[in-house]
Amino acid sequence: MTTYQLEVIENTSKKEKPVKDQVPFGTTFTDHMYILEYETEKGWYDPKIVPYGPISLDPAAMIFHYGQTVFEGMKAYRTEDGRILLFRPEKNFERLNLSSERLSIPPIDEQQALEHLTQLIKLEKEWVPKTPGTSLYIRPYIISTDANLAVGPSQTYKYMVILSPVGSYFPGGLQPVVIHVEDKFTRAVKGGTGMAKTAGNYSSGYQAQANAKKEGNADVLWLDGVEKKYIEEVGSMNIFFKINGEVVTPELNGSILKGITRMSIIELLGTWGINVTEKRISIDELYEAYEAGQVEEVFGTGTAAVISPVGELNWKGQKMIINNHEIGELSQKLYDTITGIQTGKVEDTLGWTVEV
Ligand code: COI
Repeated sequence: MTTYQLEVIENTSKKEKPVKDQVPFGTTFTDHMYILEYETEKGWYDPKIVPYGPISLDPAAMIFHYGQTVFEGMKAYRTEDGRILLFRPEKNFERLNLSSERLSIPPIDEQQALEHLTQLIKLEKEWVPKTPGTSLYIRPYIISTDANLAVGPSQTYKYMVILSPVGSYFPGGLQPVVIHVEDKFTRAVKGGTGMAKTAGNYSSGYQAQANAKKEGNADVLWLDGVEKKYIEEVGSMNIFFKINGEVVTPELNGSILKGITRMSIIELLGTWGINVTEKRISIDELYEAYEAGQVEEVFGTGTAAVISPVGELNWKGQKMIINNHEIGELSQKLYDTITGIQTGKVEDTLGWTVEV
């Protein structure tokens, strides 16, 4: 295998950083981006850090037609003493390759991806925001670039990384969100691409999301695609419930994304002596538990969403008000601990952070 040196082309015109670090999620980008090319004959080649800006693609590029693409979401955090930390980045690259396998995209070298990401973040270190609750969101992604309208995997790809300073994903911050339980549309089915981070899983939810937003909901909770009975995920986050003292979350079944925050919350709770039961949870049993006064907390977990408390669920006209629309004790403790580990305020006894 040929090894390629990382080439760095510095941007000579630097952008203004956002005032007070507060911008809507995913709308501001840094001065540089990373690009790596792929051709079947050569493998992955020509890694470059270049000024952030538009790229040129053939109008017939396969990404535009058949959506052969995968992505990741990760964050770089600023510590109080000015260091920069990544959170379990190796898990993201592992998952990127799993998603790629499902989409017939060739795997990247995970170790090299982490090394090059580290160099990109070092170059953009001034962009890692300092305000509590903010971070530098990292979006690695792969697109298929062959100019070819025949249905089948591309022979050429681009792996790219762009960076965006962000605050909270939902505009209200830690304010509990209102979520619509979707009973018409489907996000994913077993055997489909639900476990992969690929564009179509997200855009196929827009219609349901738009309908839900018209009725004041922030997002949609998806049920299984066959019976519309079992709880899956929100799309922007995995979901947890505290019911009658027990923490439960839908088991990974092939149509649910294997969230890295989800995994970390399960492990963290384990160290506190709290077991998380991963199982099939039906929406009926959740509403029955609610009627019995047993639903204590509901929260979502994700890189972008961190820990997002859910204050209300709406399913077929039935409202479930959770913890009086207030953040629950466990959700708050998990938020404080996980963000504390990510920003170096809480000792990282589990070895999850990697310094840039
Ligand atoms: C993330 O949590 O990083 C995600 O990718 C979810 C989303 C913003 C699509």
